Amino acid sequence: MSATERRLSDSRRPDSAESMRPAGSSDKRFRAARVSEIPPGSRKIVEVEGRSIGVYNIQGAFHALRNVCPHQGAELCKGLVTAAVVSSGPGDFRFEREGEIVRCPWHQWEFDIKTGCMVVDGKVRTKSYEVTVEKFGVSVEEDYVMIHL
Ligand code: FES
Repeated sequence: MSATERRLSDSRRPDSAESMRPAGSSDKRFRAARVSEIPPGSRKIVEVEGRSIGVYNIQGAFHALRNVCPHQGAELCKGLVTAAVVSSGPGDFRFEREGEIVRCPWHQWEFDIKTGCMVVDGKVRTKSYEVTVEKFGVSVEEDYVMIHL
């Protein structure tokens, strides 16, 4: 079996934990979950090449964050998912972007799930990863959520 045939064969095995690297690309992709495992409003924490990564579904779009808080290293993705609180001044506040903010379980720092940036200081961030949804082979009915390292 040639390397190309082996790569195609691997990409059609839905339960393979093996990574795939498109020809001519340095991007490594890993199957994180079936799409049905992470319905809108939920998240799944996966291990990819020794990294703990939280994969979130926000209204049908997938996002992935390193499960490490940049403050003191807590498992950020185990934190409460909430909205951003916006204020124009004392006595005024409103909630925006429901489901797009994760609050660290240790000291409550808040991060934008879509970017990995801290809400009050965008220079402080945890790593975010590109995510795609892909189908493997004609016999596999369900799409997979892929993380790109
Ligand atoms: S470890 Fe996350 S806020 Fe402190």
